[in-house]
Amino acid sequence: MVIGYALLTRCHIGQEPALCLAPCAVVPEYQRSGAGTAVIRGALEAARAQGEDTVVVLGHPDYYPRFGFESASVYGIRLSIEVPEGALMVLSLDPGRVPPDGTVHYAQPFGI
Ligand SMILES: CC(C)(COP(=O)(O)OP(=O)(O)OC[C@H]1O[C@@H](n2cnc3c(N)ncnc32)[C@H](O)[C@@H]1OP(=O)(O)O)[C@@H](O)C(=O)NCCC(=O)NCCS
Repeated sequence: MVIGYALLTRCHIGQEPALCLAPCAVVPEYQRSGAGTAVIRGALEAARAQGEDTVVVLGHPDYYPRFGFESASVYGIRLSIEVPEGALMVLSLDPGRVPPDGTVHYAQPFGI
């Protein structure tokens, strides 16, 4: 039985390819038991192993910093829509690399 998932979807920051962590969810009765952490860590490790550089996420600013995500606005990364302050975050999978700046373009089904 699948109780949680984390997908990394191709997006672009400006012209640069990146990944967005979305969608991601855990069945309500299994939340807050570590499943979200496990699937997100697994997805990020897989992306790093495949040579991906940058992951963005639009989510709760209290949750994602535990995986290394930081406020994206610090790096000049933005969206074409209004979101709450701090909700757009970025993670560089290569700690020595500064993420690209620009507007994030999600895959077409997200409508962002
Ligand atoms: C967000 C979500 C995937 C987290 O999965 P999870 O299995 O509950 O998370 P974990 O058990 O690994 O982690 C639990 C920790 O995350 C925190 N947490 C969970 N959801 C949170 C949220 N929405 N905002 C802030 N903190 C959150 C808990 O307080 C807990 O903190 P602690 O470790 O300090 O006690 C899950 O709550 C979910 O599916 N939510 C509904 C869908 C959703 O919001 N998806 C994300 C879209 S960006």
